[in-house]
Amino acid sequence: MTDSAKLSLGAKETELKLRHGTIGPDVVDIAALYKDTGLFTYDPGFTSTASCESKITFIDGDEGVLLHRGYPIDQLAERGNFLETCYLLLYGELPTAAEMGDFSYRVTRHTMVHEQMSRFYTGFRRDAHPMAVMVGSVGALSAFYHDSTDIADPHQRMVASIRMIAKTPTLAAMAYKYHIGQPFVYPRNDLSYAENFLHMCFAVPCEPYQINPVLARAMDRIFTLHADHEQNASTSTVRLAGSSGANPFACIAAGIACLWGPAHGGANEAALNMLAEIGSKDRIPEFIARAKDKNDPFRLMGFGHRVYKNYDPRAKIMQQTCHEVLTELGIKDDPLLEVAMELEQIALHDPYFIEKKLYPNVDFYSGITLKALGFPTEMFTVLFAVARTVGWIAQWKEMIEDPHQRIGRPRQLYTGAAQRDYTPVEARG
Ligand code: SDX
Repeated sequence: MTDSAKLSLGAKETELKLRHGTIGPDVVDIAALYKDTGLFTYDPGFTSTASCESKITFIDGDEGVLLHRGYPIDQLAERGNFLETCYLLLYGELPTAAEMGDFSYRVTRHTMVHEQMSRFYTGFRRDAHPMAVMVGSVGALSAFYHDSTDIADPHQRMVASIRMIAKTPTLAAMAYKYHIGQPFVYPRNDLSYAENFLHMCFAVPCEPYQINPVLARAMDRIFTLHADHEQNASTSTVRLAGSSGANPFACIAAGIACLWGPAHGGANEAALNMLAEIGSKDRIPEFIARAKDKNDPFRLMGFGHRVYKNYDPRAKIMQQTCHEVLTELGIKDDPLLEVAMELEQIALHDPYFIEKKLYPNVDFYSGITLKALGFPTEMFTVLFAVARTVGWIAQWKEMIEDPHQRIGRPRQLYTGAAQRDYTPVEARG
């Protein structure tokens, strides 16, 4: 196993240490590069840059593998549940029955939010995008829970972690209810995480809400599929915000803001809007041509991935879940699903998509599933944020507890003006 690499710069040779992970690519440790050579590295999209060491999630993009603490996502999604996956991501091991009971008890009893939060919402317009409300309300948690913002205190870090996992669904459901003009529904301690979320979103005071176990199971599985994903854009945002010592609520709010982008978590909303715009199978060739046209900014939303150059393992499970939900609800011949399945088949056999290794990602089928569950399109990324909160918190906690942790402060390649002197306005041409 090679343990070093050599960088030749003119007559000077610099030795760089290689570090080896459990699985996945080795890394060249360049921490001393600038000190030893006066050089920076340049990698604007971080396509070849490891920003940290982590033990939480591993993706093999070529093989289409996603592991959480070593466990494959398909096994966790099909044989476990979201709250168990939360425990695994936070603590590193699957819980015993007793550990799961205690964790579930703690999360359940943190699901309520301070009653003043309900008045916080009334400051928003009713038609505000729910993601804007989430950025605001999650950030506002640090104004209500000062007793768990001292990041140097392990107990407060865990309390803040549990609070985030427990309260994000409540805040998300409140954002939805506020958006549609219905009264907020309090969490219920007798329901599971996914049942409670569906109840808070779809129950109304006038009649009992019947939990559909098939739909609750699908919701739980969708949460598991979105829980964590290595150092994606929003997780990197949370880590960078946290590296300055900012409180966890503010860091998660930063992650939600980043997730909102259509290139990232906003793709599920954009993918469904795209399917609706395509409208019917006979218009697919027109959109495929646009996706290939270099002069057209249009992209097939829900396709492609920075890491997966093979099928996104989450997309397969999401497609199965989509069919389960549509079958349970008796939705036959959903036009959007028909367009999606035809689009997928055409794209998977098109030389452009094959050459660029563009496969459906987790966002391709999630929109159809969430729409069938009863959520409006603008709530899709909110649900992604609810699920990803545990991944953000686990990664934030790992960073804070890393003894080598320092504030993140990238450098740059400067190509602006060299130093020049100020000229008074009358002397400017
Ligand atoms: C998520 O990082 C994560 O892990 C994210 C995520 C998570 O769980 O956290 O998995 C969640 O964000 C999934 C991705 C959701 N986004 C989308 O579905 C939006 C559509 N996809 C693209 O915008 C794009 O594929 C990205 C953003 C996902 C990846 O972009 P990259 O890695 O920077 O790739 P690129 O933009 O450089 O594209 C490479 C080539 C380009 O062509 P060339 O310039 O080389 O000729 O592929 C083309 C692109 O034009 N391409 C597409 C395309 N995606 C890439 N062409 C048409 N349609 C697409 N969707």
